[in-house]
Amino acid sequence: MIKFQTNIVGRNKAGERDCKVRQKRILVACEFSGRVRDAFLDRGFDAISCDLRPSDSDRGKSRHYQGNVLDIIGDEWDLVIAHPECTYLCNSGVRWLHTQPGRWMKMIQAAMFFRMCLEANAAHVCVENPIPHCYAMEIIEEPYSQIIQPWQYGHGETKATCFWLRNLPQLQPTNVVPGREGRIHRLPPGPNRSKLRSMTYEGVALAFADQWGAHLNKESGFTSANNKRVQLLCDSCKRRVPFCHWYDDGQRIVRYLTCDGFSATEPVL
Ligand SMILES: C[S@@+](CC[C@H](N)C(=O)[O-])C[C@H]1O[C@@H](n2cnc3c(N)ncnc32)[C@H](O)[C@@H]1O
Repeated sequence: MIKFQTNIVGRNKAGERDCKVRQKRILVACEFSGRVRDAFLDRGFDAISCDLRPSDSDRGKSRHYQGNVLDIIGDEWDLVIAHPECTYLCNSGVRWLHTQPGRWMKMIQAAMFFRMCLEANAAHVCVENPIPHCYAMEIIEEPYSQIIQPWQYGHGETKATCFWLRNLPQLQPTNVVPGREGRIHRLPPGPNRSKLRSMTYEGVALAFADQWGAHLNKESGFTSANNKRVQLLCDSCKRRVPFCHWYDDGQRIVRYLTCDGFSATEPVL
């Protein structure tokens, strides 16, 4: 009986079936909402979030590291998406830099933390932040790769958001909708206002997982359209076997392993 290391079956770069293709490891740094992490988990990726705060979502109990992301950012990741604090870096706060004591040093620390996220030990990296001021840019050194708006992803609000991308394609708009009100005006006053304001839009989280998830799969030769896991039993031993969905020549099929190590296929209606 073959012991499988992973419950994903894929193909290697030569296009051969390869039951050792491991799930891609994704770190969503500085995320308490779990929105990006859960979007990747739903697509079958091995994703975790990390924040100093506890995770807001139920899955956070097992898929969240509560602590300093610098503890784990040097581990080996396939993709890191980071949302570092913008308070001391963004253009809208630049006026306080010269008036509030201590603010300058906090800005330098925040920009250095930003750079560490950009230097994550990953083949693919995205760091997200609002438009930075020129002092932060002097430390970050790299210009942002693209700016997006929530109204391009199904939310009728404005909030210019920049991405610094390493080895990732630009994120394409998924659902352009009317409505151009600033996000801050739509949120009720209260103690949670800034927390709510900082949460990643769901439409953007889904676009990350759909587009960059597909990019990662394509790169490894794993062409799954939806590698969500469900239970499938081996024909002979009736134990659970690893399997996945993918497209072959435009036809959606299921491939799975039997306990003999053979790959069986069947069409999915
Ligand atoms: C702008 S918020 C991003 C929220 C995110 N978009 C979400 O949907 O949860 C920045 C987050 O970075 C976290 N943070 C700041 N320093 C951190 C560190 N050293 N390690 C991990 N998280 C950190 C904060 O606790 C805060 O929740």
